Amino acid sequence: MPAIIIIGAQWGDEGKGKAADLVGNRVDYVVRFQGGNNAGHTVVIDSEHYALHSLPVGVLSPDVVPVIGNGVVVDPAVLFEEIRGLQERGVTCERLLISANAHLIMPYHRALDKVSERFLGKSRIGTTGRGIGPTYADKISRVGIRVQDLFDPKILRKKLELALADKNQTLTKIYNRRGLELEQILDEYLGYGEQLRPYVADTSLALNRALDEGKTVYLEGSQATLLDVDHGTYPFVTSSNPTSGGALAGAGIGPTRISKIVGILKSYTTRVGAGPFPTELTDDMGDWLRQSGHEYGVTTGRNRRCGWFDAPIARYSTRVNGITDFFLTKLDVLSGLESIPVCVAYDVDGVRHDELPMTQTEFHRAVPIYESFPGWGEDISLARSFEDLPKNAQDYVNTIAELSGAPISAVGVGPGREQTLELRSLV
Ligand code: IMP
Repeated sequence: MPAIIIIGAQWGDEGKGKAADLVGNRVDYVVRFQGGNNAGHTVVIDSEHYALHSLPVGVLSPDVVPVIGNGVVVDPAVLFEEIRGLQERGVTCERLLISANAHLIMPYHRALDKVSERFLGKSRIGTTGRGIGPTYADKISRVGIRVQDLFDPKILRKKLELALADKNQTLTKIYNRRGLELEQILDEYLGYGEQLRPYVADTSLALNRALDEGKTVYLEGSQATLLDVDHGTYPFVTSSNPTSGGALAGAGIGPTRISKIVGILKSYTTRVGAGPFPTELTDDMGDWLRQSGHEYGVTTGRNRRCGWFDAPIARYSTRVNGITDFFLTKLDVLSGLESIPVCVAYDVDGVRHDELPMTQTEFHRAVPIYESFPGWGEDISLARSFEDLPKNAQDYVNTIAELSGAPISAVGVGPGREQTLELRSLV
């Protein structure tokens, strides 16, 4: 039976939480496969806002098994705080499975994320400061600490000694910070080990068995395509692969299991942190989009940078992910505009580029070529089917699908669960 992947198709914050929630009710397993508590998904159920950072959105659906896959980096303190917060609101996390192979965010990762950003000054990436980059760096350097290490105190001590010998030198000698205490970290993390134990599993085995039994698995991306360390606007990216290839590696299932790859596209574009953003609006229009769309970060509270829809980016996402369907979110935010500009290509030094330029240097210089489409004045938040939308809104959706290279199967017209128009089933 099928596994489906949901991917952010722009720079994140496309409204994946809403899509995840819609699909989550119809699947058996929901898996996070990369990233960590740098993510922020907001889901609104019966006017209650749930902000999730570490847990998959599927945790809110009572019949689903939520899974934190091997590709995720876990900050145990944050994870347990989130679990406690949900329990207080009557949401149980008993079925949660956490991969024994997932890497742990350690106190020195958080410290290094913050000091290295400060050190970069104007060249900083604008990370969330949660230690994500340094944790993945240690994973690739093969000095990371995994969930399973918490069950072997001797190994944990050995690995921590090795890590701290290096990290404390860096913190004290390069960044002029205080070093960290081995015994303190050891105690704290052995405690987390006991708390984590009931949830820890061979999640790749569990997922493959579930698929063999005909269950449906849904792989829920965090961050997004243009923040992918390979395919994004490097170095202004996160340190993992939020694209569909990363979903397979980060969950431990093979490509032949996948039946659908759904890209989440916002009806305009936003980004947090630094890096190129050709359609960014730094004028009143940008402020209007930010206010109308409530574009403030869930994780850091930062103002999101806002701009018009960028079709070359959507086409790029279709290509690198193999997107089969799009979920177009926040269409209601555009209501009231007389006409809506859409970037269809770029001008780079007088040359038209229909696709993303090959180099970052060119991308930094890309000037959008816009076409304008007629807007609509009606409030569309009460629409419950595609046919309820005014003609100009329908045309806007069809144009975006054509420019983006995949059909739009769902449209969001508001934050609520009921404010999704499903044109074709996503599962
Ligand atoms: P990091 O993931 O904290 O290392 O941050 C790297 C870049 O990814 C920064 O530009 C962040 O603002 C961005 N980023 C990380 N997580 C998210 C997210 O969930 N939504 C949008 N941007 C994100």
